[in-house]
Amino acid sequence: MKSYSVKELLKGNLLLQEVTINGWVKTFRSNRFIALNDGSTLGNIQCVVDFENFEENLLKRINTGAALKVVGTLVESQGRGQNVEIQVKEILVHGEADPEVYPIQPKKHSLEFLREKAHLRVRTNTFAAVMRVRSALSFAIHQYFRENGFYYFHAPIITGSDAEGAGEMFRVTTLDDKSPKLTDDGGVDYKEDFFGKETNLTVSGQLEAEAYAMALGKVYTFGPTFRAENSNTSRHLAEFWMIEPEMAFFDLDANMDLAEDFIKGVISYVLEHCEEDLQFLEKRLLDEEKTKPQAERSEMALIEKLKFVAENSFKRVSYTEAIDILRNSKPNKKKKFQYPIDEWGADLQSEHERFLVEKHFKCPVILFDYPAKIKAFYMRLNEDGKTVRAMDILFPGIGEIVGGSQREERLDVLKEKMAALNIPEEELWWYLDLRKFGSAVHSGFGLGFERLVLFATGMGNIRDVIPFPRTPQNAEF
Ligand code: 4AD
Ligand code: MG
Repeated sequence: MKSYSVKELLKGNLLLQEVTINGWVKTFRSNRFIALNDGSTLGNIQCVVDFENFEENLLKRINTGAALKVVGTLVESQGRGQNVEIQVKEILVHGEADPEVYPIQPKKHSLEFLREKAHLRVRTNTFAAVMRVRSALSFAIHQYFRENGFYYFHAPIITGSDAEGAGEMFRVTTLDDKSPKLTDDGGVDYKEDFFGKETNLTVSGQLEAEAYAMALGKVYTFGPTFRAENSNTSRHLAEFWMIEPEMAFFDLDANMDLAEDFIKGVISYVLEHCEEDLQFLEKRLLDEEKTKPQAERSEMALIEKLKFVAENSFKRVSYTEAIDILRNSKPNKKKKFQYPIDEWGADLQSEHERFLVEKHFKCPVILFDYPAKIKAFYMRLNEDGKTVRAMDILFPGIGEIVGGSQREERLDVLKEKMAALNIPEEELWWYLDLRKFGSAVHSGFGLGFERLVLFATGMGNIRDVIPFPRTPQNAEF
């Protein structure tokens, strides 16, 4: 017999039919009511057992977490709390879950505790809701680009280049780790390595995406990226997913327009398609915030905040204006910032970004035209010779969610910048070729997918929005 999902059954249009369903027990009370969930939706289907018809031994095997197949008739519910329920005729226990040792019991578990049980935590309502929203967001991203004339491009994961120039790469090698062959000057001889050169996991697919944008026009990558930065924060992962659109003939303004429209589009998608999960996550957040001092609570509830972002313009501010605001801000004058802002040129820390977004503008902010010194080599130099056509999008509660720029399309300027930063031309000969043959204005940006999921779900720690987080000292599972 065809089995149904809980989601289908809860719609209620199979009333009085015999149905089969497979799922996991959320709760079993009074030897009579099984709440069964199969992940298809937040809600459970109530299965009513007339225990006289079942052996006690069978009922004993029905504990929270057990996997069951249930056959019965879908009827209107007698009790409150649900519209329909199953009058159970048959139960098959696929697999038991011993309550003495099964860690996911029907009570509140801390997120920290659940992180240690990352293989089981998705069986809680919170994680199931987060992961369904994550899945919906991924779909929305592909849909947005498809509808806007972009091609999905797969950047390589193993690369020889350090796109961001920050040196935060994980090396990929098959060399003998005890006694690799050395060069004459004592370094490891990477000619002997698998690829005949030093390689690493990519920190960004941008450079390769640029090559593709210069032929396909508009492309995007959406894949895993890796950074060996030792930042143990609630916003950093060593392995995270990034969406990187790259567009030929787009200048920085067009890039900012696209980024804003894109974020609004995907947020609107989850507002429309994940209502139940978002309501649940909103309530979770409200409960969590009750334990915090008033000043730390968010001014808007989750759904209101998502609507606000989807419906209002982001504020566009130059780096120079932002520095003025920060320099004259209360926390700066009262020495409340960990990194005080004294002069133009300072790199912005998360505390500054959050001040601008949460306290000053109270809306998402796009900062643009940063000092060349604090940004990557590939960004287009402005006429002033000291700023570049960079843009970062800053979000409440998150800080930087997008980093992007118009790219330096002039061969001579790019070469000069690389020379100044000691980036050998031989390493990026192919990237320079793009400026030799049919070069054109082009732009792109990178959106940290997990930061977007954090924002959309109202979760507080990036480790809780990716199935199996990789962070310093942690690659379990
Ligand atoms: O600002 P980033 O470093 O920009 C780039 O990599 C560019 N190549 C993108 C481009 O123009 N195509 O990273 C982009 C975004 C950040 O704004 C942030 O949201 C996210 O990636 N990100 C991280 N997310 C989680 N953990 C980390 N360690 C992250 N590092 C960056
Ligand atoms: Mg950045």
